[in-house]
Amino acid sequence: MDEDTNRANDAPGAWGEDESKIFVEFGQAMVPGREEIERTLLDLIPAKPDEPFLGVEIGTGTGWLSAAVLREFSKARILGFDGSPEMLRIAGELLGHYYEDRAELRRFRLEEPSWTDGLPAVRVFLSSLVLHHLDGTGKRELFVRLLDRLEPGGALLFADVMEPRTEHARSHFAAAWEEEIRRRSVQIHGDKRAHEFFVRARWNIYNHPNPLDKPSTLPEQLRWMEEAGFKGVDVFWARAGHALLGGYGP
Ligand SMILES: C[S@@+](CC[C@H](N)C(=O)[O-])C[C@H]1O[C@@H](n2cnc3c(N)ncnc32)[C@H](O)[C@@H]1O
Repeated sequence: MDEDTNRANDAPGAWGEDESKIFVEFGQAMVPGREEIERTLLDLIPAKPDEPFLGVEIGTGTGWLSAAVLREFSKARILGFDGSPEMLRIAGELLGHYYEDRAELRRFRLEEPSWTDGLPAVRVFLSSLVLHHLDGTGKRELFVRLLDRLEPGGALLFADVMEPRTEHARSHFAAAWEEEIRRRSVQIHGDKRAHEFFVRARWNIYNHPNPLDKPSTLPEQLRWMEEAGFKGVDVFWARAGHALLGGYGP
């Protein structure tokens, strides 16, 4: 694959199979603190370890987060949504192998509101690095629809890239993210491959804005969640432009 033209080859605003293949290979290295995000998110799920409940993951990717929930909560079920056939295939292998009867995957288009229609009551909506593919209005409307499907006291917990509020913050996020990847590349792959790819493919959205990515600022997302009716809205973790946000249903 010609990585320099990878993004330009896809329809503007659409995540394509090229992105999926890259993310399968380097996704773990490219997300700062992914292990901390996983641990924090699991801690915040409003359920006891042996309680049955339904979790819905928005943009399952390879399925690592859904797998973590199923591992931690022995009677949980997960319904995972993703738009990429390649991602669904890989997540299906991971989840199907270990948790066949507790995991279901569906294809969806994030921008199409009807994907939440008919969902049963959900204890927790989870997401990692996906909601920034919706613009501000899309996120705002999504928060309203998700609250409508939540069990009382259920949660929305999502990690994502945040739009900086100043140019100072943008250049800090860019440098801090690249530094994280430099370190994680060696830690995870034993060499600089993930970092080299990150630079060559212009993946750092703080240096190379792309129509595919529509991050919103952290304060506006907190406000939209509160306006939608979420309680206990907070930032639970943040690093290098990435943050884990969430709130609970009344
Ligand atoms: C950056 S990856 C994150 C994957 C996974 N959640 C993780 O943390 O590793 C973005 C995921 O969202 C999916 N995606 C992106 N845009 C989408 C859209 N418009 N509709 C449906 N899925 C989309 C991609 O297929 C991909 O699996």
